[in-house]
Amino acid sequence: MCGIVGILGREKAAPLVVEALKRLEYRGYDSAGVATLEDGHITRLRAEGKLRNLANKLDTHPLKGTIAIGHTRWATHGKPTANNAHPHATDKLAVVHNGIIENFRELRKMMEGEGIVFKTETDTEVVAQLVTRELATTNDPRTAVARALPQLRGAFALAFIFEGEPDLMIGARQGAPLAVGHGDGEMYLGSDALALAPFTDTITYLDDGDWVVLTRTDHDFRDAKNNKVARKTQKTSAGAFLVDKGNHRHFMAKEIHEQPEVVGRTLAHYLDMAKAEVALPFTLPFDWKDLTRLTISACGTAYLAGYIAKYWFERYARLPVEIDVASEFRYREAPLPEKGLALFISQSGETADTLAALRYAKENGQKILSVVNVTTSTIARESDIIAPILSGPEIGVASTKAFTCQLAVLACLAISAGVARGTLGRDEAARLVNELILTPGRISEALHREPAIRDIAQRLTKATDVLYLGRGTAYPLALEGALKLKEISYIHAEAYAAGELKHGPIALIDEKMPVIVIAPHDPLYEKTISNMQEVAARGGNIILIAEDEAAEQSGLAGIAHVAMPAMATDFAAIPYAVPVQLLAYWTAFLLGKDVDQPRNLAKSVTVE
Ligand code: F6R
Repeated sequence: MCGIVGILGREKAAPLVVEALKRLEYRGYDSAGVATLEDGHITRLRAEGKLRNLANKLDTHPLKGTIAIGHTRWATHGKPTANNAHPHATDKLAVVHNGIIENFRELRKMMEGEGIVFKTETDTEVVAQLVTRELATTNDPRTAVARALPQLRGAFALAFIFEGEPDLMIGARQGAPLAVGHGDGEMYLGSDALALAPFTDTITYLDDGDWVVLTRTDHDFRDAKNNKVARKTQKTSAGAFLVDKGNHRHFMAKEIHEQPEVVGRTLAHYLDMAKAEVALPFTLPFDWKDLTRLTISACGTAYLAGYIAKYWFERYARLPVEIDVASEFRYREAPLPEKGLALFISQSGETADTLAALRYAKENGQKILSVVNVTTSTIARESDIIAPILSGPEIGVASTKAFTCQLAVLACLAISAGVARGTLGRDEAARLVNELILTPGRISEALHREPAIRDIAQRLTKATDVLYLGRGTAYPLALEGALKLKEISYIHAEAYAAGELKHGPIALIDEKMPVIVIAPHDPLYEKTISNMQEVAARGGNIILIAEDEAAEQSGLAGIAHVAMPAMATDFAAIPYAVPVQLLAYWTAFLLGKDVDQPRNLAKSVTVE
């Protein structure tokens, strides 16, 4: 979602802010802006659309101040226009904001009643006006912010600069992440370590409810009750990750192609390959044997990784699994078992709904295990134990390598649970581990199918609706395929369990409707192929993702076939994710869509 960068520096800060914002582009945004102080006065530049529009404005109107705050906005309240773009300003201050101020209507009404005139449709302007209103009674920006913050409800990260105060920046966080970067005679604020990587590797994260007063040489951290607090400063490795596309056109393509390597690295972290055993790199604060149920919750692609893992936990560990999307789970008032385990999956570790679901589970006495990519994230910090997926930063908005790395970690956890619960014998566990060890190679082989997938994607470019079918773990993978296609190509897609076809969706089948059938060679294969025959009998336009011989065996002439390598099927969902991702990627590419930053979407969804 929105990105924040603040610099209290020694050189012209606005161009540096705009450059740093580019590292946050992946989060998704639709307008951008920067504010600085010129001769003590607030000066802003804002632009609709991509950062290059802001950079062009900055070229024609250079800003010379050495203090600046900048923002990429993902619109929630008010259209993505230049006027609604951040920073929002009054004659006393400028502010940038991530998140949502839930009580902005009441606050706005209250201030309008006092004669204050609002210039935008945003919730954020309320913050600017509220702090300015406090400044009318205290001339001190620190006191004004301290008085205004408790009046705000919602999720926010904020950064302020003040008229006539070239050595002062104030940050605040509640719900949305914010980090302070420490430089040599310089200070920074950023919504993640990646944004600050060009400036510093020394970072302090604000805790929820914290706010901080920064000068170039000092910092003063306060908690929600305005008590002075110390927060841990840490070194980050964000700078070590090159945020570039390598030889690829898009981050998404690069991330799809990285999968053999990153999944291999993740597995190496969780497996003792020589002994063919799972060797978790941490000690669990619970015993799998004691569990009566596992509760999994997440959003989007991370949820679908959990859905696939449900099959593995149930099959290998005989552990009943309850899974729900976090936005429903958090409000369902689900009863949770005593001393139960709740598992959360999140690439960013900042997804608001997943975090709220985690807090609900914690309040209800669950141990919290989280499978995350960003190990410094809020979800990571609030968990009892984290299982890192180690995929490296994922920049493309559509999740790819994080998905397969999540699956790799979840597979290891499921095997480990099976061994601990005595439901998997040593030999069977070793067989499963050996299957996992072969997975990176199978992902590579699947990537070799790319030219054929590109040709098949050409068919999808003409479709307005696409149906995905699968059984077993191929069903949640079908859901993932439909999600991927929708989000980057904007083609309507749906997924069904293949067995559900005749309970309704078969009515949709005609020669115009592409039907993507995901059929690894597992015990359900024959049944999936029978469902495919039902589609063929109604003239459906079939695209089969299955092993080499499958198309021929089906006896159906002329169907499109992504021929997958032969493999045992326990963890086939991992290599089978590759053609699913590539089909979406090439369809979007051939349609000329913005693959890495699809419209309306954000990478890290920090609002409900
Ligand atoms: C889809 C996608 C989203 C995310 C979802 C959860 O490609 O990326 O559906 O999976 O927003 O995000 P995280 O994993 O950061 O909690």
